[in-house]
Amino acid sequence: MTEQIYFYPVWIRLWHAVNAVLCILLILTGLSMQYSDPDFVLINFGLAVSMHNFSGIALTISYFLFFFGNMFTANGKFYRLKVEGLSIRLWKQLRYYAYGYFVNEESPFPVSPQNKFNPLQQISYLLALYLALPLLFVTGWALLFPEFIINKLLGFSGIFLTAQLHIVMGFFISLFLIIHLYVSTMGASPLSNFKSIVTGWQKLH
Ligand code: HEM
Repeated sequence: MTEQIYFYPVWIRLWHAVNAVLCILLILTGLSMQYSDPDFVLINFGLAVSMHNFSGIALTISYFLFFFGNMFTANGKFYRLKVEGLSIRLWKQLRYYAYGYFVNEESPFPVSPQNKFNPLQQISYLLALYLALPLLFVTGWALLFPEFIINKLLGFSGIFLTAQLHIVMGFFISLFLIIHLYVSTMGASPLSNFKSIVTGWQKLH
C-alpha cells in the first residue's frame, strides 16, 4: 500500500480554494480593466471594477486565515527557510524539474513528514504569500482610498507609483499561478497533487 501523509488540513484547503477562485477573478477582471476597449468589451467595465474591488477585499480577509493559520499551527514550520546551502538546493531542484524528472531520476527532495515542499516550492510560496500578495492587497486598498496616498515621491505622482507596484505584483502572481499549475503536475502522478489539495492526503514519492 502507498504511504500517505495528511498534509493539507481543512483550514488550508478552505483558504486555498477561496484564494484560488479570488485570484483568478482578480486576474480576469484586472486584465479586463487594464485593456478596456469600448469596441471590444470582455467584461463590462463597471462590473469588472465592482468584482475586482469585492474580490480584493475578500482576498485580504482570507489572507489572514493563511497568515494566522501558519502562525499558530504546525503548518508554519514548512515555511521556515534554511538559508545555509540554499543556492545548491535550489539548483538541484531546478535541474530535476528541467531534466531529472524527464529521465525518471529520483526526486532530490522526496516528500516526507519533515519535507512537505521542495526548496523551489518553498521559496516560491514564501515570495508569493509573504511578499507579492501582501504588496498587492496593500496597494489595492491604497488605490481604493487614494486620499491616503502621498502626493509626490521623487517627482512622480504617488498614485502612479502605487498603481505601477500593484500591476507589477499582479503580474508576478499571474506568473506564479501558471508555474504553480505546471509544477503541481510533477507529483507522484500528474493528478496526485491536485487530489491532495482536495482530499488533504499526499502520496509519498
Ligand atoms: C486554479 C488555481 C490553483 C490550483 C489548481 C492550485 C493547485 C495546488 C496544488 C495541487 C497544491 C498542492 C501541491 C503543493 O503543495 O505544492 C497547492 C498548494 C498550494 N498553493 Fe495552489 N493552486 C491554485 C492557486 C493558487 C494560488 C492563486 C496561490 C497563491 C497566490 C496558491 C498557493 C498555494 C500554496 C501556498 C500552497 C501550499 C499550501 C500549504 O500546504 O501550506 N495556489 N496548490
